[in-house]
Amino acid sequence: MTLLIFLRRKLSLTGTKLGCAEGGCGACTVMVSRFNPHHNQIIHHAVNACLAPLCSLHHCAVTTVEGIGSVASKLHPVQERIAKAHGSQCGFCTPGIVMSMYALLRNSPQPSMQDMEEAFQGNLCRCTGYRPILEGYKTFAKEGGCCRSRRKGNGCCLTSAHEEEHVSVSTTNVTCQQLFDPSEFMPLDPTQEIIFPPELISLGKQPPRSLRFIGERVLWIQPSSLNELLELKAVYPAAKLVVGNTEVGIEMKFKNLLYPVILAPAYIQELSSIQYTENGIEFGASVTLTMLGKKLHEEVNKLPNYRTEVFQAILEQLRWFAGQQIRNVAAIGGNIMTASPISDLNPVFMAAGCKLTLTSKEGKRALQMDDKFFSGYRKTALKPEEILLSIEIPYTKKYFSAFKQSTRKEDDIATITCGMNVVFQQGSNIVKDIKLSYGGIAPTTVLATATCNRLIGRRWGEELMEDACSSLAEEMTLSPSAPGGMVTYRRTLAISLFFKFYLTVQHKLAQMVKPTYVCLNVKPNYASAIELFHVDSPTSVQLYQAVPPGQSTDDMVGRPIMHLSALKQATGEAVYCDDIPQYENGLYLALVTSTKAHAYIKSIETDDAMAVPGVVTFVSAKDLPGSNKTGPAVCDETVFADNKVTCVGHIVGAIVADTQAHAQTAAKAVKISYEEIQPVIITIQDAITNQSFYQPVRTIEKGDLAKGFHESDNILEGEIHIGGQDHFYLETNCTLAVPQGEDGEMELFVSTQSALVAKALGVPASHIVCRVKRMGGGFGGKESRSTILSTVVAVAAHKVKRPVRCMLDRDEDMLVSGGRHPFFGRYKVGFKKNGKVMALDVTYYSNVGNSMDLSLSIMERALFHMDNCYNIPHIRGTGYMCKTNLPSNTAFRGFGGPQGMMVSESWISDVALCCGVPAEQVREINLYKQGEYTPFNQCLDQFTIDRCWKECVNISDFHQRKARVELYNKQHRWTKRGLSIVPTKFGISFTAIFLNQAGALVHLYTDGSVLLTHGGTEMGQGLHTKMIQVASKTLGIPTSKIHISETSTNTVPNTSPTAASASSDLNGMAVYNACQTLLQRLDPYKARNPKGSWEDWVSIYVYLGYDFETNSGHPFNYFSYGVAVSEVEIDCLTGSHKNLHTSIVMDVGKSLNPALDIGQVEGAFMQGVGLFTLEELRYSPQGYLYTRGPGMYKIPAFGDIPTELKVSLLRDAPNEKAIFSSKAVGEPPLFLAASVFYAIKDAITAARAESGLSGPFRLDSPATPERIRNACEDKFTKLCPPPEPGTYTPWDVRV
Ligand SMILES: Cc1cc2nc3c(=O)[nH]c(=O)nc-3n(C[C@H](O)[C@H](O)[C@H](O)COP(=O)(O)OP(=O)(O)OC[C@H]3O[C@@H](n4cnc5c(N)ncnc54)[C@H](O)[C@@H]3O)c2cc1C
Ligand code: FES
Ligand code: FES
Repeated sequence: MTLLIFLRRKLSLTGTKLGCAEGGCGACTVMVSRFNPHHNQIIHHAVNACLAPLCSLHHCAVTTVEGIGSVASKLHPVQERIAKAHGSQCGFCTPGIVMSMYALLRNSPQPSMQDMEEAFQGNLCRCTGYRPILEGYKTFAKEGGCCRSRRKGNGCCLTSAHEEEHVSVSTTNVTCQQLFDPSEFMPLDPTQEIIFPPELISLGKQPPRSLRFIGERVLWIQPSSLNELLELKAVYPAAKLVVGNTEVGIEMKFKNLLYPVILAPAYIQELSSIQYTENGIEFGASVTLTMLGKKLHEEVNKLPNYRTEVFQAILEQLRWFAGQQIRNVAAIGGNIMTASPISDLNPVFMAAGCKLTLTSKEGKRALQMDDKFFSGYRKTALKPEEILLSIEIPYTKKYFSAFKQSTRKEDDIATITCGMNVVFQQGSNIVKDIKLSYGGIAPTTVLATATCNRLIGRRWGEELMEDACSSLAEEMTLSPSAPGGMVTYRRTLAISLFFKFYLTVQHKLAQMVKPTYVCLNVKPNYASAIELFHVDSPTSVQLYQAVPPGQSTDDMVGRPIMHLSALKQATGEAVYCDDIPQYENGLYLALVTSTKAHAYIKSIETDDAMAVPGVVTFVSAKDLPGSNKTGPAVCDETVFADNKVTCVGHIVGAIVADTQAHAQTAAKAVKISYEEIQPVIITIQDAITNQSFYQPVRTIEKGDLAKGFHESDNILEGEIHIGGQDHFYLETNCTLAVPQGEDGEMELFVSTQSALVAKALGVPASHIVCRVKRMGGGFGGKESRSTILSTVVAVAAHKVKRPVRCMLDRDEDMLVSGGRHPFFGRYKVGFKKNGKVMALDVTYYSNVGNSMDLSLSIMERALFHMDNCYNIPHIRGTGYMCKTNLPSNTAFRGFGGPQGMMVSESWISDVALCCGVPAEQVREINLYKQGEYTPFNQCLDQFTIDRCWKECVNISDFHQRKARVELYNKQHRWTKRGLSIVPTKFGISFTAIFLNQAGALVHLYTDGSVLLTHGGTEMGQGLHTKMIQVASKTLGIPTSKIHISETSTNTVPNTSPTAASASSDLNGMAVYNACQTLLQRLDPYKARNPKGSWEDWVSIYVYLGYDFETNSGHPFNYFSYGVAVSEVEIDCLTGSHKNLHTSIVMDVGKSLNPALDIGQVEGAFMQGVGLFTLEELRYSPQGYLYTRGPGMYKIPAFGDIPTELKVSLLRDAPNEKAIFSSKAVGEPPLFLAASVFYAIKDAITAARAESGLSGPFRLDSPATPERIRNACEDKFTKLCPPPEPGTYTPWDVRV
């Protein structure tokens, strides 16, 4: 049992959250403290409770978020600051981040910014964009001062440019103004912290005793001495040694491996010792990576540089090795013995020729870590009864480097990782010995022996480098079908990283005092190629318009008030679905899903599953009391696959059992036999080939295309593929279904108001109550797809007549729930020589998956946004929805809009490159003007894009920045910078007309308090907070008198989804109207004693709908506008990039709450950064999703935020079409992250120019390191041509 399960299930301490169960999100972070008797010291560490075996915590103290403070008693400053700095939106990540910060402060009460950045490497947040979290916590950091006059015009952050404008500026050290007030914060007093229990110190001083824990499936033994361990290993040669459990835990949870005997060497001194030897330092195999790093740091600071090159290389690898929580527990021996081909340390150990000491009952033996140590995939030269005792890391290995390249810099597994070492003959630059060791190229860590042999005896120079690269290209081959894919990139990287090593050594040789040989230094424009990856600490500015001077202090509209649940979220008291206490007779459910993409189900065998202890029943299509047909818009899917499955992850059935563990074990034991059906359609290209489309095919057309092309000076054609995106809400889908015992009534605790469940249960919708307290993020993913789980759970609860719950594991959630639609755009564009676009014919294909879900509306929105902000006189857009054998894709923030606009920015970029005109100029001359009409004939009134554009150019110093970028690019060959400005226009309202309605129920209590309910759900976006602000202003009472408890279908029925950015508009108006109604009714009685009274009310907005046949009507109520400028730097040799700067100007009308709106802008922007530069869903050609958790699927982390971020809410832009002149903000800013993508493209253009390449080139989204590197064509990429398509089966396909 893990610590997390114990805390949540046995102790009901639900503040610690489950986000992934694989150590990749940090939601489960707790602090573990233990006494080290050998150093007489108490050690505090942040730890992932999801991987920590309960048995491993003997004599440890565990501190959870509940233990450090609460709203009811006293908050801890760490909890208070994240909440008040607006660093908590949905709040699901918040307890984990609080505990990472808390553990850091326990070890270092005044940490540096770097300490803080390291502490958060293992924590993810999907909502906030990280900036406010860092800003709140910077107030703990030791560096003082404000912006140091970095503000434009050398002004200080504290002096505002506009009298009425509020500026919040932070530097690396302190937040000066005004989205929150740091002077309100409680001081941190380390003397007030909870003390380590003294009894654990006395126990720790006693001699260790061996321990045995006997579980249902596993025997856990903690021996008390090395001898006992070796005896046990002889008795149980197959037993696993477990130290950090960061590998074994994953294997048991996700790879279905079972290790019946586990030996935990936690007490064994010999395995944890660190000793100096003649040649270096010997580390016991159980030394943790944190301890390893600490020791090596000490040595590097103490010893001369040349003695510690290996140590420095290891430290460089550790910088990017997992997150802090993992490094705190994972052991050096665990990394070696896992023998992973992408281990970060093994290539270094191998290149350094480290010595390993192995031991068994028979005695010790020493082994050199060379290419014979790893005997095969995850196999080593150890005998079964042997264990690894220690590793000796040598001092002097002159000219030693290590490199790791991964998709995300922080906490990511390596694509390629290597250790490189060269030794020269005395007093020369002639190679005496060289070792190049690589991970990520073969099933084991390998040495490039042939290349190394070829280099021995040669001079270190250009010629050697060229030969080495050609030789590596021959030696480091990979099958085109190699697991992990990215074959061309990996091969190119192996060479490019050697080139970096070559330059590094060249530079060091040239620095030597009086060398006896001539060695030219590295050319100045090559110098940046040898710099280690480094990102400066972020700084930020937020600008917003303050409320007018006379506004009543009770009127909260327009003020940056804190999210009303933020404090509860920071203390772990906020209740999410799976935090609801267990019912005594409650059961757990686990899904049984298809492993085939397209097949008939021949049989389902459940005998083995039913034999698992605690199993109650198997539920399938046969158990449905109502209809098996379901779907949010069209009923084209099934609750349970009946006789056929149409995607991997199709729900076939479910197991119900007494515990989650039993249910999951049994679900894995269900055997389904299939008969596969052809064709299996996975990609958009497959669908085009097979003409597999859903109907209708939508078209919007305006003007005369033939005329437009005729009037053009140039015509070009192009394509872009935009990958999909997983929602990766931190809280996965969860449902608790409680049968009410009569009339088929059922109460559901879920994440959506949708009552689709009723149809499956065969009861009227009025019999089902859906209750949504809050969600740990949604972003569209819980709008319709959450019903696939809630329906199954409800059917199970109906069958067993007991409460049933299921919270999906991350891998299941990613597998079954679909995501953002991948899109493919193909276009033909006609334009004048100056870049003015005259005609556009664009076709969109979206990968819909195995059911329609909301895909038609999504395609329609893509078409409505095909113009982005550009006036194209003659235009046609056509949208095809591809029917494929993937799980159904669904709504995701932006709802097709970002994909629609991304294609338009692609042709803008092509036009600019073709005309040789700067892209910003092409954008500007094509921008709409006030009063012009869109392709769907809607007039653009209250048009603010021109103002946003000008302000963004201004606050980003666009023109000076551009000059600096150009200069930089002239001076640097292997790193390039790029700059881009991108506008957005986003239509607001549901395009399905009937959804544009909302309801609100306002209860007035006789004590003056108000209970407000409306139809929207809270998922971190601050909707409840805003609605309370609206009610407060309308009723004229303070916000503190108003409370929102939850959303439920028995208070406000027939709700529209909380989506389309329209929830504040629709629900805000409903709240306003309800309050007005009450005011009117109560006014006459106000003077007297008002009796409690309530009235529900439904506000039906009447919009003009849009007719595709006639291209008439208004699909949108109004538009939100924004512009962003981004600057990036790419490493042309590795494909990594840094986000250097982003300025955003966003028109949010008259902001209801600037703090929440800025939070939405930044959060959406960072989600867009993920979409366009990082997040890649990878499928096998058979439709199997590989990327099922944070280990392989990378959302932006703390380190990905722009180094400099400015956000400005456009001033004086009231919107008469929404509540209190505000505008929707949830979705529109997401697309602005395209500015990062196009800045990357700009930088690649500069890199290509170095190779003589110019003109348009295709860059698909996301711009991952792989795509960036492959696009920066040079002499190294030429050595690794891509395999011929069609001649092999790739490991993964682009869907
Ligand atoms: C979120 C996450 C991120 C990660 N990131 C990285 C990364 O960036 N780079 C990287 O290289 N790895 C990474 N890993 C992999 C893993 O953390 C490391 O390999 C780690 O060093 C394993 O150590 P452990 O103590 O947790 O191993 P455990 O899981 O306890 O054991 C791992 C294996 O080693 C064996 N073993 C342990 N000690 C001995 C011994 N003395 N003698 C014989 N066998 C022994 C065990 O039996 C087991 O087979 C990551 C893992 C996770 C979960
Ligand atoms: S739940 Fe433990 S790290 Fe994600
Ligand atoms: S607030 Fe961080 S995940 Fe929602």
